[in-house]
Amino acid sequence: MTRTVFVNGDYLPEAEAKVSVFDRGFLMADGVYEVTSVLDGKLIDFDGHIRRLERSLKELEMSCPVSAEELLAMHRELVRLNGIEQGMIYLQVTRGNPGDRSFLFPAADLPGTIVAFTQDIPNLADAPAAKTGFKVITIPDLRWSRVDIKTVQLLYPSMGKMAAKKAGVDDSWFTDEAGAVTEGTSNNAWIVKGNRIITRALGNDILHGITRAAVLRFAREAQFEVEERAFTPAEAQGADEAFSTAASIFVMPVVEVDGKPVGSGKPGPVAARLREIYLDEMRKAAI
Ligand code: PDD
Repeated sequence: MTRTVFVNGDYLPEAEAKVSVFDRGFLMADGVYEVTSVLDGKLIDFDGHIRRLERSLKELEMSCPVSAEELLAMHRELVRLNGIEQGMIYLQVTRGNPGDRSFLFPAADLPGTIVAFTQDIPNLADAPAAKTGFKVITIPDLRWSRVDIKTVQLLYPSMGKMAAKKAGVDDSWFTDEAGAVTEGTSNNAWIVKGNRIITRALGNDILHGITRAAVLRFAREAQFEVEERAFTPAEAQGADEAFSTAASIFVMPVVEVDGKPVGSGKPGPVAARLREIYLDEMRKAAI
């Protein structure tokens, strides 16, 4: 079955889905995106993703070509047309096509470009990696200073993933100038010490993960103590457990940091429990 893609109001076979070479998303990385997971053919935490999309757009003085209701209908239609049971929907909104290249933003009434497509991942909830855990290396965070805005400038995170691959591990965690972990290439970073769950506080230096917010809520409800503060790679190496969160991996145990095992070096019970709670609760609330 050929994939059906959404482009500016049309549902098209992927080979016919095209965007102008003058689009500012292509020329300037002038665009924002969201990734929403799909379980049982339903959208996980959709409202959270749309709220963050609206925030990203506002921070960049962009407007969304379609309403939140239309976005929901479009996501559901893509799930239906592509027969997605488990997977993800990628949504991107750019500042559009002004017809030439210029550093200045075009007039505010230029319609933006909106595209969305599905990724079919039949074992998303049951990913084999969740049983073995991720190994990570740490590398300096060389991204710009507004990574709280979910822009499509993903070259450095992509380089981080390649650095991990070359090192024979699964992901990179970024570290700031003080040597503390900011976040993973495409996920938020966490450690566990006894009954305490620690993740960096919100700021301009991390993406405000939608999965992060849900996991914090579930951790508090499950009577864990939660600390929103920075931690170093050394602290992670000495922790009982570590994990990463994102819509694409939910709660993913991290078993090694810079070649040293975390805790037992195997996925731990806290990450497993939070993953289970997350999947159960989010499936119940899916729309
Ligand atoms: N990435 N931090 C970064 C840098 C991210 O790119 C992501 C998500 C997250 C986690 O956010 P959320 O829980 O809302 O998915 C944190 C998506 C999945 C991606 O780029 O594919």
